[in-house]
Amino acid sequence: MPFRRIASLRDLDALRAYCRELGISLPTEPLTPAALSRLAQLLPLSAELTAGNRFAVLPMEGWDGTREGKPSDLTQRRWQRFGRSGAKLIWGGEAVAVRHDGRANPNQLLISPANLDGLHRLRRILLQEHADHFGTSDDVITGLQLTHSGRFSRPNRADRPEPIVLFHNPETDRRLGKGVRMILLSDDDIKKLSDDFIAAAVLAQKAGYHFVDIKMCHGYLGHDFLNAVSRPGEYGGSLENRTRFLRRIAAGIRACAPGLEIGVRLSAFDFIPFHAGENGLGVPDASAAHLPFGCDSSGTGVALEQPSAFLSILEEIGIRLVCISAGTPYTTPHLLRPALFPPSDGYAPPEDPLAGVARLIRVTAELKRRHPGLVFVGSGYSYLQEFIPHVAAAVLAAGGADSIGLGRMMLSYPNFIADVLAGKPLQRKRICRTFSDCTTAPRNGFASGCYPLDPFYSKRPEADRIRQLRPRLPRP
Ligand SMILES: Cc1cc2nc3c(=O)[nH]c(=O)nc-3n(C[C@H](O)[C@H](O)[C@H](O)COP(=O)(O)O)c2cc1C
Repeated sequence: MPFRRIASLRDLDALRAYCRELGISLPTEPLTPAALSRLAQLLPLSAELTAGNRFAVLPMEGWDGTREGKPSDLTQRRWQRFGRSGAKLIWGGEAVAVRHDGRANPNQLLISPANLDGLHRLRRILLQEHADHFGTSDDVITGLQLTHSGRFSRPNRADRPEPIVLFHNPETDRRLGKGVRMILLSDDDIKKLSDDFIAAAVLAQKAGYHFVDIKMCHGYLGHDFLNAVSRPGEYGGSLENRTRFLRRIAAGIRACAPGLEIGVRLSAFDFIPFHAGENGLGVPDASAAHLPFGCDSSGTGVALEQPSAFLSILEEIGIRLVCISAGTPYTTPHLLRPALFPPSDGYAPPEDPLAGVARLIRVTAELKRRHPGLVFVGSGYSYLQEFIPHVAAAVLAAGGADSIGLGRMMLSYPNFIADVLAGKPLQRKRICRTFSDCTTAPRNGFASGCYPLDPFYSKRPEADRIRQLRPRLPRP
């Protein structure tokens, strides 16, 4: 059965009927005044911090920093648009490396004393834009996402992997290509790296951020700790050991940056790697020696015991802010950013992307049910397009999340949230249709952006080239 485009579903009843056809359960409700006011409700995050509504901007990096890791004009433009969005929670802004060897690409932002002014300016620009549009920015809570890219590090050249790993994973090692030199971190290296995260958090606090997000998702180093079952020593094996890195960082931040809140963005589940099979369709690899964190024994199903045990550890160490994501963009992109059209290094969707959205929503709701004291931000909603507010309101009503995070929609239509909250009709031409050019561009050495729908990017010289780089696949 071909997948139906969301734009072809005329109204909520049509979406509901299509979900029934697919056998998918997706919470939805009509956009009544009560539903809208739920989206506009305050969100207490901690004793001191309250966000002014229930929308969050998810971290969206642009592969557009300078070689030194400072923000460029493109970076500033993106953050300015985040400020215009109307969201009152900025979950991380974008991935910022805590040191050079952990940059995912030579244009990733890098936090350091020399780059602090730039990170400070990003926050200021965002808040100023917000205040200009909405009267005040006092109720906007800003976090900075701190990361080390681990096995996906490419700090010096976009086409040269320089992986730094905690353990050897045959599936991902193979995909990095033959002859790639890998650095295996020792326990001492890990201690030094956690000190780098602590130093970065101190800088983030100086730059005015309310919290730091210790990135534990998408296959990068923080997430890889959760997968490090086969690693011997203090940082591998038991969940206790696999969370030692995070616990060390959290204790260090509390000691060195008192008052700074800590959040964690988590890939709550992943599947074994997928590849493009016949007709470019995504299929799981035939065999996988390693079952990822949050995956059941089939390799393509969710098992929440470990993720839930991880969240219990967060509760024990007083981390309340959690943003739920999933998967790894290089091996299981359909899990974290459901899309009808894959990026150039991806595969055609192996399931209706709505099934991917529904899975993320279901997992987040189940984790929220088990850990009601934590504040949950959901991800993966952009594919819902016109129906984002209908699903967002229903998820909040059912207590399935506390805040609704948006990523790709913020590139094509940054004031989407403001329009929803103001009860304005949506501007259909600006709605993200998940063409994935925002990923195809950086996979081919260009800055990310919404090339199809943001005129600023469609006019750039590389726009045609990026369109040509889209994979030619049979119509989904
Ligand atoms: C171009 C692009 C850049 C992204 N950058 C980051 C990032 O820096 N950090 C992160 O945690 N996730 C990043 N993500 C993932 C998004 O935050 C989000 O989880 C994903 O796009 C799904 O949400 P959506 O459906 O609203 O787009 C990125 C995704 C895209 C497409």
